[in-house]
Amino acid sequence: MIYSIVNLKGGVGKTTTAAALWAGLGKRGYRTLAIDLDPQQNLTYNSGAGESGKTVLSLLTREASAEEAIQHADMGDIIAASKALAGADAFLVETGKEYRLKEALEPIEDNYDYIIIDCPPSLGALSVNALTVCNKAIAPSQADYFSLQGIEQLAETVKSVKKYCNHELEIMGILMTRYNDRTVLTKNITKYVEQISDKLNTKLFETKIREGIAIKEAQLSQQSIFDYAPSSNVAADYKKFIEELLVSEKEQ
Ligand SMILES: Nc1ncnc2c1ncn2[C@@H]1O[C@H](COP(=O)(O)OP(=O)(O)O)[C@@H](O)[C@H]1O
Ligand SMILES: [Mg+2]
Repeated sequence: MIYSIVNLKGGVGKTTTAAALWAGLGKRGYRTLAIDLDPQQNLTYNSGAGESGKTVLSLLTREASAEEAIQHADMGDIIAASKALAGADAFLVETGKEYRLKEALEPIEDNYDYIIIDCPPSLGALSVNALTVCNKAIAPSQADYFSLQGIEQLAETVKSVKKYCNHELEIMGILMTRYNDRTVLTKNITKYVEQISDKLNTKLFETKIREGIAIKEAQLSQQSIFDYAPSSNVAADYKKFIEELLVSEKEQ
């Protein structure tokens, strides 16, 4: 199963969710690989992976195989990002450019139960490559208008990737992150979530990830939330989310 973690807005919990799925599914015994597709390299840094060797950029330019680019970090296997990924739209211009990542992952895909792709907060060749190779996308969002708009703005791209590059593409659900019970979703936001879910033919996951300081400390110490603060709210919520996800997979 390949998941892309997407939202056009930055700071909504994409990388945090990607890391939690990667490490959490790994702890459950699944063979997992993370791919950092964001030139900001947050997942690469948070996991202590190096950026000097082969990266996902080398895959996109066909300079290296996926096998050569895989690093073994504490949280699991990862293909790191590099800053030069920011220029992807300029160098990915040839016919078939949407399929570069898919082609590169084909030889190693069967070695993993889960591949988790952390996407950049932008539309363009990188996100299209991620949406083309994945089975499903997961869209994290904070409970505010702009974060949700970042999902809504994906609608056209998802539609055209589904039509031309990946017929099976689905947005599996919207995951509320940095959730604070005291600022319960207002009526307007709830309505907006419903609108977006309809538009993208998706749902809101039942699990909400609460706001918690432990996550920042875990990221700084380059540990997964499950290792750094196993009894924190955030660890409990992501654990619950993984369970919800595994159940949803079976239902589909
Ligand atoms: N549940 C949470 N509680 C507190 N802070 C969080 C939580 N999830 C994410 N953050 C923080 O919010 C910021 C943005 O999260 P991140 O996962 O990097 O978002 P994105 O990848 O969408 O840009 C980071 O500083 C991260 O530590
Ligand atoms: Mg990120």
